[in-house]
Amino acid sequence: MKAEDFDLLAGTVKERSGLILSKDKAYLLETRLMPVARKHGLQGLEELCVKVRGRDRALIEDITEAMTTNESLFFRDNKPFDQFTSAVLPGLMKAREGQKRIRIWSAACSSGQEPYSLSMLAKEQGAKLSDWRLDILATDISMEMVNKAKAGIYTQFEVQRGLPITLLIKYFKQNGDKWTLDAAIRSMVQFKTFNLLESMSSLGQFDIVFCRNVLIYFDQETKGKVLEGISKQLADDGVLYLGGAETVLGITDKFAPVSGYRGMYQKKGFTPSVIPT
Ligand SMILES: C[S@@+](CC[C@H](N)C(=O)[O-])C[C@H]1O[C@@H](n2cnc3c(N)ncnc32)[C@H](O)[C@@H]1O
Repeated sequence: MKAEDFDLLAGTVKERSGLILSKDKAYLLETRLMPVARKHGLQGLEELCVKVRGRDRALIEDITEAMTTNESLFFRDNKPFDQFTSAVLPGLMKAREGQKRIRIWSAACSSGQEPYSLSMLAKEQGAKLSDWRLDILATDISMEMVNKAKAGIYTQFEVQRGLPITLLIKYFKQNGDKWTLDAAIRSMVQFKTFNLLESMSSLGQFDIVFCRNVLIYFDQETKGKVLEGISKQLADDGVLYLGGAETVLGITDKFAPVSGYRGMYQKKGFTPSVIPT
């Protein structure tokens, strides 16, 4: 691939999604974008670049989608989900006793394993949450991932990664080599496409935000902007979860780590409801 074509494609992907493609990823552009070129009736990457220069919006969206990394699994990293049941949910239920409403945002949900891990845990609470309204919004820039998530159909490989067998048996039905998640668990999550680079104000206020394993693909400036956006949507006593390889340190002064809770961040200057008072 010509250097100018790489620069054009990498620049376009960064502008649309924040994702950084380093030069050593040129091979990835070639393998992932050939199917996109074919879908748009183009001969190859040179023709694709001509269309990108002409700002073909549908093509740019498909290119960006093709360059996202959608790796996810149920109960990824375990700890945040253990904490959700043992500390975050009880703390919030105490703090929101008056409203009986909790809002959660899974901000780069990929194929849905993260929000569905939460909805299964919420269901496991049984009667404790029966008169509560628990909203889980799950968003991703990739329409393909959002559609896959909505369907709630997973392969044997996907359900074997992270999902306890008890929950698999309880909440999934096997159809041949696929597993379909129970409609009641699916209906607890609202899915939609959303680009983290856009204004988040229309999404409303959240008590918990999971924004895990996406900031790693952004540069410092983009990480800072996204975190600032999230801080505006997070309740003052709410918490943010980042992925294991991500941090707020050196990026933003809007958040600080919650001591004793790995991967959990609070709004600076406030006390999260997860900490008993
Ligand atoms: C590696 S997955 C992480 C999924 C899940 N949060 C987890 O930790 O398992 C990263 C997701 O971020 C999404 N993504 C990348 N750039 C985005 C953006 N600008 N806005 C919203 N989602 C984005 C990708 O489509 C992908 O599904």
